Amino acid sequence: MRTQVGIVGAGPAGLMLSHLLHLAGIDSIVIENRSRAYCEARVRAGLMENWVAQLLIDTGVGERLNREAMVHDGIYVAFGGEARHIDFHKLIGKRVYIYDQKEVVTDLIAKRLGDGGQILFEVEDTSIHDFDGGRPKIRFRHGGAAQEIECDFIAGCDGFHGICRPSIPASAWRGYDRVYPFGWLGVLTESPPPEDELIYCFHERGFALFSMRGPQVSRLYIQVPPEEDADKWSDAQIWGELETRLGGVRPLKRGKILQKGVTPMRSYVTEPMQHGRLFLAGDAAHIVPPTGAKGMNLAIADVRVLSRAFEAHYKSGGEALLKDYSRTALNRVWKGQRFSWWMTQMLHRHSDEIDFDTKRQIAEIDYVTGSVAAMTSLAENYAGLPME
Ligand code: DHB
Repeated sequence: MRTQVGIVGAGPAGLMLSHLLHLAGIDSIVIENRSRAYCEARVRAGLMENWVAQLLIDTGVGERLNREAMVHDGIYVAFGGEARHIDFHKLIGKRVYIYDQKEVVTDLIAKRLGDGGQILFEVEDTSIHDFDGGRPKIRFRHGGAAQEIECDFIAGCDGFHGICRPSIPASAWRGYDRVYPFGWLGVLTESPPPEDELIYCFHERGFALFSMRGPQVSRLYIQVPPEEDADKWSDAQIWGELETRLGGVRPLKRGKILQKGVTPMRSYVTEPMQHGRLFLAGDAAHIVPPTGAKGMNLAIADVRVLSRAFEAHYKSGGEALLKDYSRTALNRVWKGQRFSWWMTQMLHRHSDEIDFDTKRQIAEIDYVTGSVAAMTSLAENYAGLPME
């Protein structure tokens, strides 16, 4: 097989890149080791920055998003028995969209296949070759047969545990790392959310987040020790803990727990995000802790920058944007890292005692939810820094 850009990974980064390249008349093939059903079913963070939703709409993949996404003016932050509203729309004129990552993936797969795009699911034993000079190749097995894609460039969109990043010689890149001493137990429930926008709760017993996937479906999270076993938690315990941490600011209706799992909390950045003709994008290059839901948004930002760079290369032979890809993408990535780290440290419990840091955190939350300047800063970052 031969294509212009070989894309490893059919997550939001790989699929969106393939879609944007197609619109620019550039050929790509996407390979993915999971099944299509798995990619379309895996519940992930559901919060979309304003410009990401707009990009999906402007590029013809916003039809279901327009119909089904919940559009929020802001968020609530609860602490000390009180819920305070931060109104992004009033502060900066932007709204955010609640639409699960799996819905974005579902819509992009349908669009790519509808446009005649090639996505090969359930490939095995993927490896990448000759991206450090010669003609890059992607080798894998598909349907039992050995396959090879020869391409001009490889886009590594295969996530944090993918094969692309570790294929770069160790001396050519560096990872910047921060591991947090807690995780999130996340549940999907058949119950109405306690508020029509998200509530981020700071509580003595730990952080909790009340999000949603529809008027009768909630997505709820509680801070737990790292590597907690989700099965240790009974449904009654989960509901009890959620109710306690909500702190009485809203009534909480219980319902059936449909899914549960633990999300690890980590910040990670690879520098540079390019080696020869291999370009990393999304989780393959960087991950954020979930607080503020920047993961998918940063992935889409990477491929927006990368697709424009490929476009310049193929249209005019201009190499400046490709050469600048890593620097341009990392500029936004580090701001996303900074914001995710900041939200995480502000809203989580770091010790069992009420100590200096706890008091400082309460003062910070009080300030951030009371000062127009501080709320504006949060709103700008949460709804998405300018892209252009
Ligand atoms: C969701 C997840 C987040 O981490 C967040 O900050 C907001 C929303 C969600 O899954 O809905």
